[in-house]
Amino acid sequence: MRKLWDNKVSRRKLLGGAAATGAALPVLHEVVPHRDLHGGTSAAQAAVEHHRQAHRGSGHLGAMGRVDARANGFDPHVIVRDFDEGTLRGGVREWDIVAQDREIEVAPGVKYAAWAYNGRVPGPTLRARQGERLRINFTNGSNHPHTIHFHGIHRDVMDGVPGVGAGNIAAGESTVYEFDAEPFGLHLYHCHSTPLAEHIAKGLYGAFIIDPEDGRPDADELVMVMNGFDTNFDRTNEVYAVNTVAFAYMDKPIRVKRGELVRIYLVNLLEFDFVNSFHIHANFFDYYPTGTRLEPRDFTDTVIQGQGERGILELRFPYTGKYMFHAHVSEFAELGWMGFFEVVD
Ligand code: CU
Ligand code: CU
Repeated sequence: MRKLWDNKVSRRKLLGGAAATGAALPVLHEVVPHRDLHGGTSAAQAAVEHHRQAHRGSGHLGAMGRVDARANGFDPHVIVRDFDEGTLRGGVREWDIVAQDREIEVAPGVKYAAWAYNGRVPGPTLRARQGERLRINFTNGSNHPHTIHFHGIHRDVMDGVPGVGAGNIAAGESTVYEFDAEPFGLHLYHCHSTPLAEHIAKGLYGAFIIDPEDGRPDADELVMVMNGFDTNFDRTNEVYAVNTVAFAYMDKPIRVKRGELVRIYLVNLLEFDFVNSFHIHANFFDYYPTGTRLEPRDFTDTVIQGQGERGILELRFPYTGKYMFHAHVSEFAELGWMGFFEVVD
């Protein structure tokens, strides 16, 4: 264990060195040796430690045990293909969104006191078409003030930040955000109350897709929100995932058809770590950063995203079989961010 922790500290020191040499990096948070924080004997700490040890250097791939999707109230295998188009009322596309305090299980035995939009982490994948009028009825059912801040082009009073427009929405209060769906692409929404990193890291975020006026070619569409969980409040993540549950797609791969166009809406909502990445094995994909242009920028097998960055991946699998995908930040992969596609005929 000691050696692994030392490696981690070195990694952060290395990043610190980059900042000191003038690279445009934000101020690093304090380097905290984790072993000092794992002295607690709570069941949660024990589960986290078990999770870390199980996935570090043991060669074991996948979760020890299962996360109960029914207890969580959401299932990563449903979320991955779940797009919420809201309701059209009088020419306006409308959603009702409620923020709630909710305990969720992010890895077997690892509980996390999340804040969730509509009971799930990530929140619903909101989907609209370019130019539509959108209305979001937001109710704060949590015990803390929250907002919804949407990425996109709109007036300041609809931006969901404290101090402008409705600003912070207090516990039990409601507000309405209304704006046009611009520009087309893949965006995100998240709480913007302070402290900002915590309000995001607690789970108040989701993908926000604006389809181009003429749509995109037919495809098997997937949404992958890359996230992580700081289970001991040291501003470092102990669990990493796509769509919240560590190793969910290792235990049960995402099934796709050979030769069919697969489109992945990939969003990075990870806090506390500067970058995240997506890597596909034995294949390449077209990459459309932010999805705001209809021509791909890259044809590659690995893409790096900073915080809040997102992009659309398009690929076809030429062969049947099991193909791994994971963060090419190996540490994240070992702590939950890896999975399989199962390609069938
Ligand atoms: Cu919040
Ligand atoms: Cu943002």
